[in-house]
Amino acid sequence: MRYLTIALAKGRLADKAMEMFEAIGISCDEMKDKASRKLIFVNEDLGVRFFLAKANDVPTYVEYGAADIGIVGRDTILEEGRKLYEVMDLGVGKCRMCVCGPESARERLEHHELIRVATKYPNIAKDYFYNQKYQTVEIIKLNGSIELAPIVGLSEVIVDIVETGSTLRENGLMVLEEVCSLSARMVVNQVSMKTENERITAIIKKFQAYLKENAGR
Ligand code: PRP
Repeated sequence: MRYLTIALAKGRLADKAMEMFEAIGISCDEMKDKASRKLIFVNEDLGVRFFLAKANDVPTYVEYGAADIGIVGRDTILEEGRKLYEVMDLGVGKCRMCVCGPESARERLEHHELIRVATKYPNIAKDYFYNQKYQTVEIIKLNGSIELAPIVGLSEVIVDIVETGSTLRENGLMVLEEVCSLSARMVVNQVSMKTENERITAIIKKFQAYLKENAGR
């Protein structure tokens, strides 16, 4: 039997996803050893293997078929724009993509002024401002701690993920506009969906049953 390969976005999401896979009977004890530097984990009995990758790389692995299935946030799926099937909302990692900034930026935003937008998600920001709002802005790509940008004067606003809102609050910033809602998704390679249809469909069905059972918990 060919291995079914599953790519998980490293970090919090991977832990949650593994819990879910375990609950539906696809476990991988090898993966629980946090001290290990191993990158790929195999369950020989089930013919399944997991690997951890940087979130942004998960859609790439899935598009090229190096992974049949991926678990990754919708933010990354939208940003990467890869060819793949998004088959399920896992209902975890819920948060929002927002335009944020100080109160003083609200008016400039509303008046469609040529403002600077700092973000880790230039494609999502471009799509939002150019295609949805028809607003010309200057987009500045950053790689983390995006909230710093308006504080030190790099940009007027940011496009970033808001979960609890505490990072914004602690830095005197607020949500000015909402771009979209986000959560963890299961994605599938388009060819694997045909060639491994039975195994992949079985996993999707088990996940759906698990999610239904645990709804509202
Ligand atoms: C994310 C995001 C915000 C923060 C939002 O950052 O970019 O900074 O979480 O969460 P909150 O609304 O609950 O405060 P992350 O921790 O992923 O690090 P980053 O700075 O590398 O983006």
